[in-house]
Amino acid sequence: MLKHDAIFRSGLFKFSAYVLHDIDLIKHVLQDNNRNYVKNDKYSFLILLGNGLFTSDGEPWLKQRRMIQPLFHQKSIVHSMEIMISEALKFVHTIREEVDITDEMGKLTLNIVGKSLIGAEDTEQTIGVIREELIKCQRTGSVLLKLPLSRYPEWLTNTVFLRKFKRSMDTLDSIVTNIIERHKTDTERINMLALLLSAGMTDNKQIKDEVMTLLLVGHETTMLALTWTFYLLSQHENIKQKLYEEINAGIGRPENITYEGLKKLTFLDCVVNESMRLYPPAYVFGRKSVDEDWLGEYYVPKNTDIVINVWGLHRNPKYWAEADTFDPSRFEGVDASKMPFIPFGIGPRMCIGAAFAFLEIKVILTAFLLAYDFSVVNTTVYPHPLITLTSNQNIRLRLFKRNNL
Ligand code: HEM
Repeated sequence: MLKHDAIFRSGLFKFSAYVLHDIDLIKHVLQDNNRNYVKNDKYSFLILLGNGLFTSDGEPWLKQRRMIQPLFHQKSIVHSMEIMISEALKFVHTIREEVDITDEMGKLTLNIVGKSLIGAEDTEQTIGVIREELIKCQRTGSVLLKLPLSRYPEWLTNTVFLRKFKRSMDTLDSIVTNIIERHKTDTERINMLALLLSAGMTDNKQIKDEVMTLLLVGHETTMLALTWTFYLLSQHENIKQKLYEEINAGIGRPENITYEGLKKLTFLDCVVNESMRLYPPAYVFGRKSVDEDWLGEYYVPKNTDIVINVWGLHRNPKYWAEADTFDPSRFEGVDASKMPFIPFGIGPRMCIGAAFAFLEIKVILTAFLLAYDFSVVNTTVYPHPLITLTSNQNIRLRLFKRNNL
Protein backbone atom coordinates (compact mmCIF):
# COMPACT_ATOMS: atom_id res chain seq x y z
CA MET A 1 0.00 0.00 0.00
CA LEU A 2 1.40 3.37 -1.04
CA LYS A 3 0.65 6.20 1.37
CA HIS A 4 1.05 9.92 0.93
CA ASP A 5 -0.49 13.12 2.27
CA ALA A 6 -2.68 13.55 -0.76
CA ILE A 7 -3.21 10.07 -2.13
CA PHE A 8 -2.85 6.44 -1.24
CA ARG A 9 -2.91 3.32 -3.30
CA SER A 10 -5.02 0.57 -1.92
CA GLY A 11 -4.56 -2.98 -3.18
CA LEU A 12 -6.56 -6.02 -2.15
CA PHE A 13 -6.73 -9.19 -4.22
CA LYS A 14 -7.40 -8.11 -7.79
CA PHE A 15 -8.76 -4.67 -6.92
CA SER A 16 -6.39 -1.77 -6.53
CA ALA A 17 -7.09 1.92 -6.71
CA TYR A 18 -5.81 5.38 -6.03
CA VAL A 19 -7.79 6.89 -3.18
CA LEU A 20 -7.98 10.70 -3.20
CA HIS A 21 -8.75 13.09 -0.36
CA ASP A 22 -6.93 16.15 -1.70
CA ILE A 23 -9.09 18.80 -3.35
CA ASP A 24 -6.62 19.63 -6.15
CA LEU A 25 -6.26 16.01 -7.21
CA ILE A 26 -10.01 15.48 -6.98
CA LYS A 27 -10.63 18.58 -9.12
CA HIS A 28 -8.15 17.25 -11.66
CA VAL A 29 -10.11 14.01 -12.02
CA LEU A 30 -13.68 15.35 -11.82
CA GLN A 31 -13.26 18.71 -13.48
CA ASP A 32 -10.04 19.77 -15.21
CA ASN A 33 -9.27 16.47 -16.94
CA ASN A 34 -12.73 14.87 -16.58
CA ARG A 35 -12.70 13.57 -20.15
CA ASN A 36 -10.02 11.12 -19.14
CA TYR A 37 -12.09 9.63 -16.31
CA VAL A 38 -15.26 7.60 -16.74
CA LYS A 39 -17.51 5.92 -14.20
CA ASN A 40 -15.75 2.69 -13.24
CA ASP A 41 -16.96 -0.88 -13.73
CA LYS A 42 -17.88 -1.10 -10.06
CA TYR A 43 -21.05 0.70 -11.06
CA SER A 44 -22.05 -2.25 -13.20
CA PHE A 45 -24.00 -3.68 -10.23
CA LEU A 46 -26.28 -0.70 -10.67
CA ILE A 47 -27.97 -2.56 -13.50
CA LEU A 48 -31.09 -1.40 -11.76
CA LEU A 49 -30.38 2.05 -13.14
CA GLY A 50 -29.74 0.67 -16.63
CA ASN A 51 -28.35 3.37 -18.87
CA GLY A 52 -29.84 6.18 -16.84
CA LEU A 53 -28.06 9.48 -16.31
CA PHE A 54 -26.10 8.27 -13.28
CA THR A 55 -24.47 5.28 -14.94
CA SER A 56 -24.07 6.31 -18.59
CA ASP A 57 -20.98 7.94 -20.11
CA GLY A 58 -19.74 9.85 -23.16
CA GLU A 59 -22.10 11.15 -25.86
CA PRO A 60 -25.24 9.30 -24.63
CA TRP A 61 -24.72 10.81 -21.16
CA LEU A 62 -24.38 14.34 -22.58
CA LYS A 63 -27.59 13.93 -24.58
CA GLN A 64 -29.46 12.66 -21.51
CA ARG A 65 -28.06 15.38 -19.25
CA ARG A 66 -29.27 18.07 -21.69
CA MET A 67 -32.71 16.52 -21.82
CA ILE A 68 -33.08 16.05 -18.06
CA GLN A 69 -31.50 19.33 -16.92
CA PRO A 70 -34.69 21.41 -17.48
CA LEU A 71 -36.54 19.21 -14.97
CA PHE A 72 -34.30 20.74 -12.33
CA HIS A 73 -34.53 24.37 -13.39
CA GLN A 74 -35.69 26.83 -10.75
CA LYS A 75 -39.28 26.91 -12.08
CA SER A 76 -39.72 23.14 -11.87
CA ILE A 77 -38.16 23.00 -8.43
CA VAL A 78 -40.52 25.66 -7.13
CA HIS A 79 -43.39 23.52 -8.47
CA SER A 80 -41.95 20.53 -6.57
CA MET A 81 -41.72 22.74 -3.48
CA GLU A 82 -45.52 22.65 -3.16
CA ILE A 83 -45.23 18.87 -2.93
CA MET A 84 -42.36 19.14 -0.42
CA ILE A 85 -44.37 21.45 1.82
CA SER A 86 -47.60 19.48 1.71
CA GLU A 87 -45.80 16.16 2.35
CA ALA A 88 -43.75 17.67 5.21
CA LEU A 89 -46.91 19.11 6.81
CA LYS A 90 -48.72 15.81 6.50
CA PHE A 91 -45.75 14.14 8.16
CA VAL A 92 -45.48 16.48 11.17
CA HIS A 93 -49.21 16.19 11.77
CA THR A 94 -49.20 12.37 11.80
CA ILE A 95 -46.25 11.59 14.08
CA ARG A 96 -46.58 11.24 17.85
CA GLU A 97 -44.26 10.77 20.84
CA GLU A 98 -41.57 8.65 19.21
CA VAL A 99 -40.50 8.15 15.63
CA ASP A 100 -38.09 6.00 13.60
CA ILE A 101 -36.65 8.97 11.75
CA THR A 102 -34.55 6.87 9.35
CA ASP A 103 -37.58 4.98 8.16
CA GLU A 104 -39.88 8.01 8.11
CA MET A 105 -37.38 10.12 6.17
CA GLY A 106 -37.05 7.28 3.66
CA LYS A 107 -40.80 7.27 3.08
CA LEU A 108 -41.09 11.03 3.02
CA THR A 109 -38.24 11.65 0.57
CA LEU A 110 -39.41 8.87 -1.74
CA ASN A 111 -42.93 10.29 -1.64
CA ILE A 112 -41.61 13.72 -2.55
CA VAL A 113 -39.37 12.67 -5.43
CA GLY A 114 -41.97 10.10 -6.52
CA LYS A 115 -44.80 12.63 -6.64
CA SER A 116 -42.61 15.27 -8.31
CA LEU A 117 -41.55 12.76 -10.91
CA ILE A 118 -44.61 10.69 -11.62
CA GLY A 119 -47.42 12.65 -10.00
CA ALA A 120 -49.68 12.43 -7.01
CA GLU A 121 -52.11 10.19 -8.88
CA ASP A 122 -49.76 7.31 -8.30
CA THR A 123 -50.57 6.56 -4.74
CA GLU A 124 -48.53 6.11 -1.62
CA GLN A 125 -49.14 2.37 -1.90
CA THR A 126 -47.23 2.16 -5.20
CA ILE A 127 -44.45 4.25 -3.74
CA GLY A 128 -44.42 1.96 -0.66
CA VAL A 129 -43.85 -1.11 -2.85
CA ILE A 130 -41.12 0.71 -4.78
CA ARG A 131 -39.41 1.53 -1.49
CA GLU A 132 -39.49 -2.08 -0.23
CA GLU A 133 -37.96 -3.40 -3.45
CA LEU A 134 -35.35 -0.64 -3.53
CA ILE A 135 -34.25 -1.52 0.01
CA LYS A 136 -33.77 -5.16 -1.03
CA CYS A 137 -31.72 -4.10 -4.06
CA GLN A 138 -29.61 -1.74 -1.95
CA ARG A 139 -28.65 -4.60 0.38
CA THR A 140 -27.41 -6.76 -2.50
CA GLY A 141 -25.70 -3.81 -4.18
CA SER A 142 -23.74 -3.00 -1.03
CA VAL A 143 -22.42 -6.53 -0.70
CA LEU A 144 -21.31 -6.50 -4.34
CA LEU A 145 -19.68 -3.10 -4.05
CA LYS A 146 -17.57 -4.31 -1.16
CA LEU A 147 -16.20 -7.32 -3.02
CA PRO A 148 -12.56 -6.63 -3.83
CA LEU A 149 -13.12 -7.15 -7.55
CA SER A 150 -13.07 -4.61 -10.31
CA ARG A 151 -15.38 -6.74 -12.46
CA TYR A 152 -18.03 -9.29 -11.43
CA PRO A 153 -17.68 -12.83 -12.83
CA GLU A 154 -20.53 -14.39 -14.81
CA TRP A 155 -21.25 -17.16 -12.25
CA LEU A 156 -22.13 -14.55 -9.62
CA THR A 157 -25.21 -13.54 -11.56
CA ASN A 158 -26.64 -17.07 -11.23
CA THR A 159 -26.50 -17.29 -7.45
CA VAL A 160 -29.72 -17.34 -5.37
CA PHE A 161 -28.56 -14.10 -3.87
CA LEU A 162 -28.60 -12.32 -7.22
CA ARG A 163 -31.73 -14.06 -8.40
CA LYS A 164 -33.61 -12.33 -5.54
CA PHE A 165 -32.13 -9.04 -6.73
CA LYS A 166 -33.38 -9.78 -10.21
CA ARG A 167 -36.88 -10.54 -8.89
CA SER A 168 -37.01 -7.15 -7.15
CA MET A 169 -35.84 -5.52 -10.35
CA ASP A 170 -38.58 -7.21 -12.34
CA THR A 171 -41.21 -5.94 -9.89
CA LEU A 172 -39.86 -2.40 -10.09
CA ASP A 173 -39.66 -2.69 -13.83
CA SER A 174 -43.32 -3.56 -14.23
CA ILE A 175 -44.48 -0.82 -11.83
CA VAL A 176 -42.54 1.85 -13.70
CA THR A 177 -43.60 0.53 -17.12
CA ASN A 178 -47.20 0.81 -15.99
CA ILE A 179 -46.75 4.38 -14.83
CA ILE A 180 -45.13 5.37 -18.14
CA GLU A 181 -47.94 3.79 -20.15
CA ARG A 182 -50.55 5.70 -18.15
CA HIS A 183 -48.69 8.94 -18.79
CA LYS A 184 -48.66 8.28 -22.51
CA THR A 185 -52.41 8.02 -22.66
CA ASP A 186 -53.20 10.83 -20.22
CA THR A 187 -51.37 13.90 -21.52
CA GLU A 188 -52.96 16.28 -19.00
CA ARG A 189 -50.49 15.35 -16.28
CA ILE A 190 -47.99 17.92 -15.03
CA ASN A 191 -44.89 16.36 -13.53
CA MET A 192 -41.28 15.57 -14.39
CA LEU A 193 -42.10 12.43 -16.35
CA ALA A 194 -44.64 14.33 -18.44
CA LEU A 195 -41.93 16.92 -19.12
CA LEU A 196 -39.52 14.20 -20.23
CA LEU A 197 -42.12 12.77 -22.61
CA SER A 198 -42.95 16.17 -24.05
CA ALA A 199 -39.21 16.93 -24.47
CA GLY A 200 -39.15 14.06 -26.97
CA MET A 201 -37.80 11.15 -24.96
CA THR A 202 -39.58 8.28 -26.66
CA ASP A 203 -37.55 5.14 -26.05
CA ASN A 204 -39.46 3.21 -23.36
CA LYS A 205 -36.36 1.52 -21.95
CA GLN A 206 -34.55 4.85 -21.71
CA ILE A 207 -37.46 6.54 -19.93
CA LYS A 208 -37.66 3.64 -17.50
CA ASP A 209 -33.95 3.89 -16.73
CA GLU A 210 -34.20 7.62 -16.08
CA VAL A 211 -37.23 7.22 -13.80
CA MET A 212 -35.54 4.45 -11.79
CA THR A 213 -32.38 6.54 -11.52
CA LEU A 214 -34.15 9.63 -10.25
CA LEU A 215 -36.27 7.64 -7.79
CA LEU A 216 -33.33 5.76 -6.35
CA VAL A 217 -30.53 8.31 -6.25
CA GLY A 218 -33.01 11.11 -5.58
CA HIS A 219 -34.36 9.81 -2.29
CA GLU A 220 -31.76 7.67 -0.54
CA THR A 221 -29.10 10.40 -0.26
CA THR A 222 -31.60 13.06 0.83
CA MET A 223 -33.00 10.73 3.48
CA LEU A 224 -29.50 10.20 4.87
CA ALA A 225 -28.63 13.90 4.89
CA LEU A 226 -31.79 14.54 6.92
CA THR A 227 -31.29 11.62 9.30
CA TRP A 228 -27.69 12.60 10.10
CA THR A 229 -28.75 16.22 10.61
CA PHE A 230 -31.40 15.18 13.13
CA TYR A 231 -28.82 13.06 14.89
CA LEU A 232 -26.20 15.83 15.00
CA LEU A 233 -28.73 18.38 16.26
CA SER A 234 -29.81 16.00 19.02
CA GLN A 235 -26.17 15.84 20.16
CA HIS A 236 -25.69 19.65 20.12
CA GLU A 237 -28.42 21.31 22.15
CA ASN A 238 -27.05 24.85 21.72
CA ILE A 239 -26.94 24.56 17.93
CA LYS A 240 -30.43 23.05 17.83
CA GLN A 241 -31.73 25.95 19.95
CA LYS A 242 -30.01 28.59 17.79
CA LEU A 243 -31.47 27.00 14.67
CA TYR A 244 -34.95 26.81 16.18
CA GLU A 245 -34.76 30.50 17.11
CA GLU A 246 -33.81 31.47 13.56
CA ILE A 247 -36.60 29.38 12.05
CA ASN A 248 -39.17 30.50 14.61
CA ALA A 249 -38.36 34.19 14.03
CA GLY A 250 -38.27 33.83 10.23
CA ILE A 251 -41.17 31.43 9.55
CA GLY A 252 -43.13 30.93 12.78
CA ARG A 253 -45.51 28.13 11.82
CA PRO A 254 -44.97 25.11 9.52
CA GLU A 255 -47.87 26.34 7.33
CA ASN A 256 -45.98 29.60 6.64
CA ILE A 257 -43.02 28.03 4.81
CA THR A 258 -42.24 29.86 1.56
CA TYR A 259 -39.31 29.88 -0.85
CA GLU A 260 -38.49 33.49 -0.02
CA GLY A 261 -38.78 32.83 3.72
CA LEU A 262 -36.36 29.90 3.58
CA LYS A 263 -33.83 31.92 1.59
CA LYS A 264 -33.36 34.22 4.58
CA LEU A 265 -32.50 31.37 6.98
CA THR A 266 -28.72 31.52 6.63
CA PHE A 267 -27.90 29.52 9.76
CA LEU A 268 -30.08 26.71 8.43
CA ASP A 269 -27.87 26.60 5.30
CA CYS A 270 -24.78 26.39 7.53
CA VAL A 271 -26.27 23.51 9.55
CA VAL A 272 -27.16 21.51 6.43
CA ASN A 273 -23.71 22.08 4.92
CA GLU A 274 -21.89 21.17 8.12
CA SER A 275 -23.97 18.04 8.50
CA MET A 276 -23.12 16.94 4.93
CA ARG A 277 -19.45 17.77 5.58
CA LEU A 278 -19.30 15.39 8.54
CA TYR A 279 -21.64 12.74 7.14
CA PRO A 280 -21.61 13.02 3.34
CA PRO A 281 -24.36 10.66 2.10
CA ALA A 282 -22.28 9.91 -1.03
CA TYR A 283 -19.10 9.40 1.02
CA VAL A 284 -17.13 7.76 -1.82
CA PHE A 285 -17.58 7.42 -5.55
CA GLY A 286 -15.43 6.11 -8.35
CA ARG A 287 -13.86 6.73 -11.71
CA LYS A 288 -11.56 4.86 -14.09
CA SER A 289 -8.80 6.45 -16.19
CA VAL A 290 -9.31 6.10 -19.95
CA ASP A 291 -5.72 6.98 -20.80
CA GLU A 292 -2.53 7.39 -18.82
CA ASP A 293 -2.21 10.56 -16.78
CA TRP A 294 -0.41 12.15 -13.84
CA LEU A 295 -1.95 12.94 -10.47
CA GLY A 296 0.56 15.37 -9.07
CA GLU A 297 3.77 13.36 -8.94
CA TYR A 298 1.98 10.03 -9.37
CA TYR A 299 1.81 8.24 -12.67
CA VAL A 300 -1.67 6.92 -13.48
CA PRO A 301 -1.65 4.04 -15.98
CA LYS A 302 -4.68 3.70 -18.24
CA ASN A 303 -7.61 1.76 -16.70
CA THR A 304 -6.67 2.74 -13.14
CA ASP A 305 -9.51 2.81 -10.62
CA ILE A 306 -9.81 6.07 -8.71
CA VAL A 307 -11.78 6.42 -5.48
CA ILE A 308 -12.97 9.92 -4.61
CA ASN A 309 -12.87 9.79 -0.81
CA VAL A 310 -15.38 12.51 0.11
CA TRP A 311 -15.38 11.47 3.76
CA GLY A 312 -11.55 11.83 3.86
CA LEU A 313 -11.63 15.20 2.08
CA HIS A 314 -14.31 16.60 4.39
CA ARG A 315 -12.34 15.58 7.48
CA ASN A 316 -8.89 16.36 6.11
CA PRO A 317 -7.12 18.39 8.86
CA LYS A 318 -5.16 20.19 6.13
CA TYR A 319 -8.40 22.06 5.27
CA TRP A 320 -10.57 21.90 8.39
CA ALA A 321 -9.68 23.02 11.91
CA GLU A 322 -11.04 20.53 14.46
CA ALA A 323 -12.25 18.54 11.52
CA ASP A 324 -14.38 16.09 13.53
CA THR A 325 -16.31 18.79 15.40
CA PHE A 326 -19.84 19.76 14.35
CA ASP A 327 -19.53 23.52 13.99
CA PRO A 328 -21.96 25.07 11.44
CA SER A 329 -20.41 28.51 12.00
CA ARG A 330 -17.46 27.49 9.79
CA PHE A 331 -19.84 27.99 6.83
CA GLU A 332 -21.02 31.44 7.98
CA GLY A 333 -20.38 34.22 5.43
CA VAL A 334 -18.37 31.98 3.09
CA ASP A 335 -19.17 30.57 -0.33
CA ALA A 336 -19.44 26.80 0.29
CA SER A 337 -18.75 26.07 -3.38
CA LYS A 338 -15.26 27.58 -2.96
CA MET A 339 -14.38 25.26 -0.09
CA PRO A 340 -12.93 21.73 -0.20
CA PHE A 341 -16.49 20.54 0.19
CA ILE A 342 -18.15 18.32 -2.43
CA PRO A 343 -21.24 16.56 -1.02
CA PHE A 344 -22.82 16.77 -4.50
CA GLY A 345 -19.60 16.13 -6.44
CA ILE A 346 -18.06 18.68 -8.84
CA GLY A 347 -17.50 19.11 -12.54
CA PRO A 348 -19.84 18.21 -15.38
CA ARG A 349 -21.20 15.15 -13.54
CA MET A 350 -22.09 17.06 -10.42
CA CYS A 351 -25.44 16.07 -8.90
CA ILE A 352 -28.29 17.24 -11.10
CA GLY A 353 -30.65 17.26 -8.10
CA ALA A 354 -28.48 19.33 -5.71
CA ALA A 355 -30.78 22.39 -5.57
CA PHE A 356 -33.86 20.14 -5.33
CA ALA A 357 -32.32 18.17 -2.45
CA PHE A 358 -31.09 21.25 -0.58
CA LEU A 359 -34.51 22.86 -0.74
CA GLU A 360 -36.23 19.65 0.29
CA ILE A 361 -33.93 19.22 3.31
CA LYS A 362 -34.62 22.82 4.37
CA VAL A 363 -38.39 22.45 4.03
CA ILE A 364 -38.47 19.25 6.07
CA LEU A 365 -36.12 20.49 8.81
CA THR A 366 -38.06 23.73 9.12
CA ALA A 367 -41.45 22.05 9.40
CA PHE A 368 -40.10 19.50 11.88
CA LEU A 369 -38.21 21.92 14.12
CA LEU A 370 -41.18 24.25 14.33
CA ALA A 371 -43.42 21.36 15.34
CA TYR A 372 -41.17 19.41 17.74
CA ASP A 373 -38.18 19.51 20.00
CA PHE A 374 -36.52 16.09 20.13
CA SER A 375 -33.85 13.83 21.61
CA VAL A 376 -32.33 10.59 20.38
CA VAL A 377 -33.51 7.30 21.89
CA ASN A 378 -30.60 5.14 20.66
CA THR A 379 -27.53 4.88 22.85
CA THR A 380 -24.91 4.16 20.19
CA VAL A 381 -25.08 5.54 16.69
CA TYR A 382 -22.20 5.38 14.25
CA PRO A 383 -21.77 5.28 10.46
CA HIS A 384 -22.27 2.01 8.65
CA PRO A 385 -20.91 2.71 5.18
CA LEU A 386 -22.78 0.78 2.47
CA ILE A 387 -23.22 2.22 -1.04
CA THR A 388 -24.19 5.37 0.82
CA LEU A 389 -23.40 6.43 4.38
CA THR A 390 -26.07 4.74 6.46
CA SER A 391 -26.05 4.37 10.27
CA ASN A 392 -25.46 1.17 12.26
CA GLN A 393 -29.14 1.13 13.26
CA ASN A 394 -32.23 3.15 12.43
CA ILE A 395 -32.27 6.36 14.46
CA ARG A 396 -35.26 6.87 16.78
CA LEU A 397 -36.30 10.27 18.09
CA ARG A 398 -38.38 11.10 21.16
CA LEU A 399 -40.62 14.07 20.35
CA PHE A 400 -41.74 17.05 22.43
CA LYS A 401 -44.54 18.93 20.74
CA ARG A 402 -44.14 22.71 20.43
CA ASN A 403 -46.88 25.32 20.43
CA ASN A 404 -46.31 26.31 16.79
CA LEU A 405 -48.03 23.17 15.52
C1 HEM B 1 -28.46 15.18 -0.21
C2 HEM B 1 -28.85 14.62 -1.33
C3 HEM B 1 -27.93 14.23 -2.45
C4 HEM B 1 -26.59 13.98 -2.46
C5 HEM B 1 -25.63 14.05 -1.28
C6 HEM B 1 -26.22 13.64 -3.82
C7 HEM B 1 -24.91 13.36 -4.22
C8 HEM B 1 -24.54 13.14 -5.53
C9 HEM B 1 -23.18 13.01 -5.99
C10 HEM B 1 -21.94 13.07 -5.10
C11 HEM B 1 -23.21 12.82 -7.33
C12 HEM B 1 -22.02 12.69 -8.26
C13 HEM B 1 -21.55 11.26 -8.38
C14 HEM B 1 -20.36 11.10 -9.31
O1 HEM B 1 -19.77 12.09 -9.77
O2 HEM B 1 -20.00 9.94 -9.56
C15 HEM B 1 -24.61 12.80 -7.73
C16 HEM B 1 -25.05 12.60 -9.02
C17 HEM B 1 -26.39 12.54 -9.38
N1 HEM B 1 -27.46 12.82 -8.56
FE1 HEM B 1 -27.41 13.35 -6.61
N2 HEM B 1 -27.34 13.65 -4.60
C18 HEM B 1 -28.41 14.03 -3.83
C19 HEM B 1 -29.73 14.19 -4.23
C20 HEM B 1 -30.19 13.97 -5.51
C21 HEM B 1 -31.56 14.17 -5.96
C22 HEM B 1 -32.70 14.72 -5.09
C23 HEM B 1 -31.61 13.78 -7.27
C24 HEM B 1 -32.78 13.75 -8.23
C25 HEM B 1 -34.03 13.88 -7.91
C26 HEM B 1 -30.27 13.35 -7.64
C27 HEM B 1 -29.92 12.88 -8.88
C28 HEM B 1 -28.61 12.66 -9.30
C29 HEM B 1 -28.26 12.24 -10.65
C30 HEM B 1 -29.23 11.92 -11.79
C31 HEM B 1 -26.86 12.17 -10.70
C32 HEM B 1 -26.01 11.81 -11.91
C33 HEM B 1 -25.68 13.09 -12.67
C34 HEM B 1 -24.79 12.88 -13.88
O3 HEM B 1 -23.97 11.97 -13.87
O4 HEM B 1 -24.92 13.68 -14.82
N3 HEM B 1 -29.45 13.49 -6.57
N4 HEM B 1 -25.40 13.02 -6.62
